[in-house]
Amino acid sequence: MISRRGIPVMLDLQPEGRTTQDCVDRGKADSRTVRPLHPDDVELVRQFLSRLSTESAYRRYFTPCRPGDAELRRFFGAGNGARDALVATAGEEVIALAEGAALENEPGVVEIAVVVADAWQGRGVGRQLVWMLAHRAAARGAVTIKAETLADNACMARLLRRLWPDARPRLDGPLRTWHLPVGSTPQRLPAAA
Ligand SMILES: CC(C)(COP(=O)(O)OP(=O)(O)OC[C@H]1O[C@@H](n2cnc3c(N)ncnc32)[C@H](O)[C@@H]1OP(=O)(O)O)[C@@H](O)C(=O)NCCC(=O)NCCS
Repeated sequence: MISRRGIPVMLDLQPEGRTTQDCVDRGKADSRTVRPLHPDDVELVRQFLSRLSTESAYRRYFTPCRPGDAELRRFFGAGNGARDALVATAGEEVIALAEGAALENEPGVVEIAVVVADAWQGRGVGRQLVWMLAHRAAARGAVTIKAETLADNACMARLLRRLWPDARPRLDGPLRTWHLPVGSTPQRLPAAA
């Protein structure tokens, strides 16, 4: 997983010129901020993961178990240029975690994964994080975003199709694998339907 050293601050891609560090959705009462993960976030991330419903944890990690302490230590300790991670926060709370990892065996491909706190799902947080990860990956030379989801994950499928309307996943047993062209990521964050 990721340390701050592995998270170059690269782009200024928020709608209306907002920065990654300053991504506050001022249009809504439920204002939130998106920023790169910081090593000091370990406890906040632990709390976030512990609050996830079993279903959300399963949809993200393909097991009902949240990452344990050893895995979290690896996550926060394994920073390198091939990793990226963003957190969305509301007040002091982490409300979403999004990760991107350049795949050694698939040059130019960055695999992404995201999980949003249950109480915050369906409010555009996931769409914003995936959009930001895609642009940050593009700035690092990625050409393809890859995502693996459970085959029945309709919410993630809608999210991905909102950003890449032509996206067609490959069905791999219980999983869907998506390969999404970085070049067709919308320049502006699309609004919800
Ligand atoms: C999948 C997930 C990341 C999406 O994030 P989100 O913030 O809830 O999603 P958004 O609000 O950005 O909306 C995504 C789309 O899904 C739709 N949606 C929301 N809830 C839905 C549901 N229960 N069923 C189907 N679609 C749903 C939204 O309407 C939206 O589609 P639209 O733009 O066409 O209106 C989030 O729900 C989550 O954390 N789920 C558990 C973990 C997971 O599945 N991770 C993905 C594996 S990498």
